[in-house]
Amino acid sequence: MNKLQNILRQIDGKSYKAYKSIQGSYSFHRFEVIIDYVQGDPFAAPSKIRIVIPNAYRKMNREWKDKFHRKLYTEDVIARSVAKAIATNVVTSKGSGKSGLIAIDAPGQEILERTAVSVDPNHVTICLSIGLPANGRRINGKEAEKLFIEAIPAILENSIFTITDETIIEAVQLAEQHQAIRAHMKENNLVAFIADGSILPRQSGISNRPMHDAIPFQSPEENRVTVNIPHRDEPLTGMGIKQGITLIVGGGYHGKSTLLNAIERGVYHHIHGDGREYVLTDPNAVKVRAEDGRQVSAVNITSFINDLPHKQDTECFSTTNASGSTSQAANVVESLEAGATTLLIDEDTSATNFMIRDRRMQQLVEKEPITPFIDKVAQMNHQLGVSTILVMGGSGDYFDVADQVIMMDQYLPYNATEKAKEILSKYPTNRESDQDETFGHVSARQFLDGSLQTNRGKKEKVQAKSLTTILMGRTEIYLAYVEQLVDPSQTRLIAEVIRHMDKKNWLKENISLSDLLDKIETQINKQGLGSFAPFADQHPGDLARPRRFEIAAALNRIRTAKVKVLN
Ligand SMILES: Nc1ncnc2c1ncn2[C@@H]1O[C@H](COP(=O)(O)OP(=O)(O)OP(=O)(O)O)[C@@H](O)[C@H]1O
Ligand SMILES: [Mg+2]
Repeated sequence: MNKLQNILRQIDGKSYKAYKSIQGSYSFHRFEVIIDYVQGDPFAAPSKIRIVIPNAYRKMNREWKDKFHRKLYTEDVIARSVAKAIATNVVTSKGSGKSGLIAIDAPGQEILERTAVSVDPNHVTICLSIGLPANGRRINGKEAEKLFIEAIPAILENSIFTITDETIIEAVQLAEQHQAIRAHMKENNLVAFIADGSILPRQSGISNRPMHDAIPFQSPEENRVTVNIPHRDEPLTGMGIKQGITLIVGGGYHGKSTLLNAIERGVYHHIHGDGREYVLTDPNAVKVRAEDGRQVSAVNITSFINDLPHKQDTECFSTTNASGSTSQAANVVESLEAGATTLLIDEDTSATNFMIRDRRMQQLVEKEPITPFIDKVAQMNHQLGVSTILVMGGSGDYFDVADQVIMMDQYLPYNATEKAKEILSKYPTNRESDQDETFGHVSARQFLDGSLQTNRGKKEKVQAKSLTTILMGRTEIYLAYVEQLVDPSQTRLIAEVIRHMDKKNWLKENISLSDLLDKIETQINKQGLGSFAPFADQHPGDLARPRRFEIAAALNRIRTAKVKVLN
């Protein structure tokens, strides 16, 4: 601490560059501060520091960190406590640009594996971004002293040093409950579970927080399952959605999309109070939608589309500007290639001609290249074991293929399976099924060397600009329609993965996309998210874990990709 104070006094008033001399590590009373990276000027990206707190000063019980999932929830709850302490911190240092900034990569409603906090056997590490104080472009050593000697210790005092054991235990217990629900789902072939009492709608279209005064979820009697979970007096009850084809129907504005959105997000785990903390979905469930205008690179979409105008190849379909139906077909096939076991589809965001084709249209339009999803969904289920949950209020044709029908009425679900069956025998659609006996082949593909054009001029540049955009060299990867990408730190991780793969020449290894995704996941599992950051053993940057599907989605949208079909 004295060492840092001395340097700060020496460089006070000098040009900002002199801050570089504080890089290094400093012992404070109960923790160590490691200054890994110093920003170039007060307006540039903030400096990166790590705080290491030995267990001697904050005891971390073994059962909070001995299993992966418990450790993850412990790290998450500590990151939240630091974020809260930062938000309520009153000791601030002032100056130009980012002077005085103190930030942690704060988690949102989801509990994700992230680099902000790591709980290791002997210590806890907290990664922060700080703005080193300046007047104009001159170092303000006094304010910097205040930042290191007053503000940061105060924040740590109000978070890691005083977070109660009960708060951590509550998080760890939620981890165990989530594991128990997942185990139950696996045993009982459930692709989704929505607990009674869950709050599904959000505050607004731009807020991820629960809506006030929403109508709590209540399972239909026929679909109700009971799950015994630890740390709770009563078992949990709720709606279980079985593997197979599930149709969600109901009138406009009755809550269909809200239910599907909650199911989409159930691939992640949510914090207490979110309203969706007991809404869980098959972790390999992928939301699939239409996305016209997207890049498609060598995807075999023959299961859905053949005989395009001008003899466009659909076994190896590439376009820089996909149409509604071809984009949705590519999204389905790419999800299957990456290993999806459940597809989630909403009519609101689908291409109508990809989803349905009724009898009259069959009579009128003979040259139709599309085999609609309705004629493939059952084969996909039987032959590939892939389930579908589908919101479809506009066409009863799907009654023919649905295993169960849930009807939303005034935001509450009812089981309408029997009624739908009655209707389908009373009013046959008489449509000719376009279906073949088989779903068709899902081809493996390979991204070829040269796909990742990461250079911008002479410099390498791969950077997440926002949740939905990655700048890679001179091109942008646009991810706004990848709906299960939920945290900008996930996007940052994907950018780092791309940079890392290019630098390490992973694409020279001639492996399929699916093997490439395995390789990325194995590295995360074994070496952590930080292993994709540019410098080992330093502040890793603010990274969180996306699923393989979101990584694949980014690769599949690269406009410079060179891809070949393997089989
Ligand atoms: N349980 C609930 N309690 C209160 N409001 C709700 C609930 N569920 C959904 N809502 C609200 O109702 C509105 C309509 O919901 P949603 O978009 O899910 O309808 P929908 O059935 O998909 O409609 P459409 O057929 O027009 O697409 C939204 O503003 C949503 O926030
Ligand atoms: Mg809707």
